[in-house]
Amino acid sequence: MPISREALPPDSQAATGSSSAALDPAIGRLLKQGFGRDFTIFDGTSGELLHKAADQPELDWGMRVELCRQVARRNRPEFIDDENPFLVLALPLESPDGTSRVATAMFVSRPVGLDEDISPAAEQLHLKPEEALDWAVRQPPWPADVLERMANLTLEQEARRQRIEELEEETESLSVHLASTYEEISLLYRLTQNLKLSMSDEDLGRVALEWLEEVVPAQGMAIQLVPLEADEETSGQGVRTKSVLLTFGQCPVDNEQFSQLIERLGQRLELCGANRPLVANRSITREDSWPCPEVRQMIAVPLAEGENVFGHLAAFNHRDGGEFGTVEASLLSSVGAILGIHSGNIELYRQQSELLAGMIRALSSAIDAKDPYTCGHSDRVARVAVRLAEEMSCDAKMVETIYLSGLLHDIGKIGIDDNVLRKPGKLTDEEYEHIKRHSEIGYKILMDLKKLDEVLPVVLHHHESWDGGGYPHQLPSEDIPFSARIVAVADAFDAMSSDRPYRKGMPDENIDSIFRSGAGKQWDPTVVDALFRARDDIRQIARGEHHDTDIGLQKCV
Ligand SMILES: [Fe+2]
Ligand SMILES: [Fe+2]
Repeated sequence: MPISREALPPDSQAATGSSSAALDPAIGRLLKQGFGRDFTIFDGTSGELLHKAADQPELDWGMRVELCRQVARRNRPEFIDDENPFLVLALPLESPDGTSRVATAMFVSRPVGLDEDISPAAEQLHLKPEEALDWAVRQPPWPADVLERMANLTLEQEARRQRIEELEEETESLSVHLASTYEEISLLYRLTQNLKLSMSDEDLGRVALEWLEEVVPAQGMAIQLVPLEADEETSGQGVRTKSVLLTFGQCPVDNEQFSQLIERLGQRLELCGANRPLVANRSITREDSWPCPEVRQMIAVPLAEGENVFGHLAAFNHRDGGEFGTVEASLLSSVGAILGIHSGNIELYRQQSELLAGMIRALSSAIDAKDPYTCGHSDRVARVAVRLAEEMSCDAKMVETIYLSGLLHDIGKIGIDDNVLRKPGKLTDEEYEHIKRHSEIGYKILMDLKKLDEVLPVVLHHHESWDGGGYPHQLPSEDIPFSARIVAVADAFDAMSSDRPYRKGMPDENIDSIFRSGAGKQWDPTVVDALFRARDDIRQIARGEHHDTDIGLQKCV
């Protein structure tokens, strides 16, 4: 790059002031390293003198300001004075932020002797000849071409230094971004690991708040879960009827205030899209009409799944007094989406369970309608069987299965001829064979209902006998599914104890005696033992006096 030696007219603008902080120290070091001296620095735009170099002759910089600005505009090194042996070099230095500086310094282009007369050159530069000579003899000579090469090398090195600095900044910012992305992904992964239908939305919400606290710089966090729109019949069966506020850290609002804030922000949310996060910073919370002065910063996101909004997640008050930004908004949105999907799934599951419970009620009623003589039989068998299962220390899941099995064990009677089913007297062999088919018919009715898989063994095998003489498969002893053995005892107990239009229920002593002699023959003796142990409770159930079986249909399915 050639260095221009064109002479330019001096500028009338006077340079003023000086600042030691005018130049990046790294550039100061670079110039010192390359040229072995301090440089005078000007602002390349305004021409302001920012730093005056030490150990340089007193040049009239006011005259050279415009020259420096022109060097800045042309953005290449130039000699702005050339009076043999003096050379004044100007270097344009542009910072990455766009600010422009010009560094200038005087050199001698050849060795100067003590007895040399340099007065003409000194006068041209408005320097006192004695001082100029005194300075010049102490200077190492810098031929113009060497200065030119050094100037270009220095600028190249500075460009490289700036590029390295930029890359370091980019790396730093990328690393911060990666760290926050990693935290976000790790949090979302942990949350999704907890997305089991068995975990309630409140429990998952508490877990989410606890984990969010690790990555969101908020003083407090909260989740408000709102009531679901359920119909009258289902309310009270695990459906939330009041909003619930879960909090973590220093949450500055209560449930009611949370609702107020969401309502107020709702208008703004509508403006920017219902499912988008809302960041309320100081410019909003400082407004006179802001309802909660304790809330200085806030982000709120809906817990939404499609059109359904199950509540809101919010972070309150930045820990360092700053403002929440897109990183926090994005993280909260992701967590809000997961919580929303979880709530949606729970609701969907509840609706399906409700549907299935309704269907089981309908089936159970259909059996009663078909066989009015045994009205209430299925319900009583279910309750007695539950009491037996509890007596035998079955787990909750097994107890639920036994309850449903009791309700549906005779579902196959739907396919039995009414005349046979309702015949009050003794059945013929043929009629008995026909009625025996109800266990297999029941199995076929329910076999395609995946949710009732565990009920099928009872429906099919509740008439098997411990000695292998039952039906339909003549299974012996422990080959009979355990749940079927329990329901078989409950079924027999109700058949003996309940009144029928054509006969009264048997006295307790007779029933006891039949079970005693049938234990180990018709029935599993361990189940019969359980029947005797829980006899008082079971008699109450049989008489319809026992209503505290806490197995709800909906809970079971
Ligand atoms: Fe049956
Ligand atoms: Fe039955």
